[in-house]
Amino acid sequence: MNILITGATGFIASHTIVELIESGHNIIGIDNLSNSSADVVDKIAKITGKKIDFYPVDICDYSALKSVLKDKKIDCCMHFAGLKAVGESVAKPIEYYENNIGGTITLLKVLKEIGCKNLIFSSSATVYGTPEFVPITEECPKGICTNPYGWTKSMIEQILLDLQNADKSWNVVILRYFNPIGAHPSGVIGENPNGVPNNLMPYITQVASGKREKLFVYGDDYDTPDGTGVRDYIHVVDLAQGHVKALNAINNNCGCEIFNLGTGHGYSVLDVVRTFEKVNGIKIPYEIVARRSGDIAMCYASPDKANSVLGWSAKYSLEDMCRDSWNYQQKN
Ligand code: NAD
Ligand code: UFG
Repeated sequence: MNILITGATGFIASHTIVELIESGHNIIGIDNLSNSSADVVDKIAKITGKKIDFYPVDICDYSALKSVLKDKKIDCCMHFAGLKAVGESVAKPIEYYENNIGGTITLLKVLKEIGCKNLIFSSSATVYGTPEFVPITEECPKGICTNPYGWTKSMIEQILLDLQNADKSWNVVILRYFNPIGAHPSGVIGENPNGVPNNLMPYITQVASGKREKLFVYGDDYDTPDGTGVRDYIHVVDLAQGHVKALNAINNNCGCEIFNLGTGHGYSVLDVVRTFEKVNGIKIPYEIVARRSGDIAMCYASPDKANSVLGWSAKYSLEDMCRDSWNYQQKN
């Protein structure tokens, strides 16, 4: 199939492209390079032996998008492009709503005009807010998001549901990612956050490399086994393979389907620190500090629907995630 990938040079999309190429698909990638670099295109070629068709285009730019896509036959769009820094979204809500929601609407218009009505969207477990129960199934009601980034995901999901409701010829798959970490086992592609990392694993790898002195653990007084926050960490290659499987659901006139992509296991911050230390033989000094505002105690998926409907399940362990994250950090 010919797959259009928005946000193509980003962390999750680049890993997904590798898996799609290895499954025989043809890729057209676009990215405005606001949070990634064009050299990822060469890195993908280094792993797969194939150079993708790449355009440095902004999804908010209707004319540029239309002129790149007008003569292309696209079977499905996987829509990853978006701004994703939670703290920044609180400081710059307009930029987040404009880029993520405005960009998605422009993209949807162009897709409709070129006759592509198959879409797979990168959503997030953040739409559950403080989840009513764990493990979180897709039936768990959406909740109150704690930041504009989360609201953009929640609102885009609603836009996609409304669109598909109005025009049944659209096929939409919404994938709610839990906490993607790890990197391609080659160490060629991975996550490269700008500035001080927000997320746990990039922070840990920067402590391991000596770039940062210690990890600040945000709270040890949650109602969890060791008091630190529990999340469902998923290897980015497993997540990427989930997208390959989701393409089959798109082929089956699916309407609008939602899937959690997580492992079903919750690990605490200290579980991750200890596993990283054990697997890589490096001590990670840490200090317990106050809770981070907006954080929840516990969030992990029931992946049962993706297991049964998509035939997908996560294969990599937390050990693999810690090893591959560190391998990438060392090589980059
Ligand atoms: P990323 O920042 O590495 O990738 C996103 C890419 O989109 C970047 O390359 C960026 O340059 C590009 N982009 C942003 N705005 C654009 C625009 N207007 N036009 C074209 N390109 C644009 O992030 P990621 O971690 O790979 O996330 C991919 C998607 O998955 C995002 O939508 C993100 O919100 C979602 N998601 C990520 C996580 C996570 O923890 N990483 C969790 C849940 C959902
Ligand atoms: N944490 C620390 N110290 C740090 C960073 C994180 O203790 O320096 C803790 C957090 O308090 C939390 C856990 O590590 O308990 C995970 O935090 P992350 O920031 O890595 O991930 P979040 O679960 O907060 O959020 C991430 C993405 C969101 C996405 C969500 C999906 O940042 O965009 O996963 O579940 F929506």
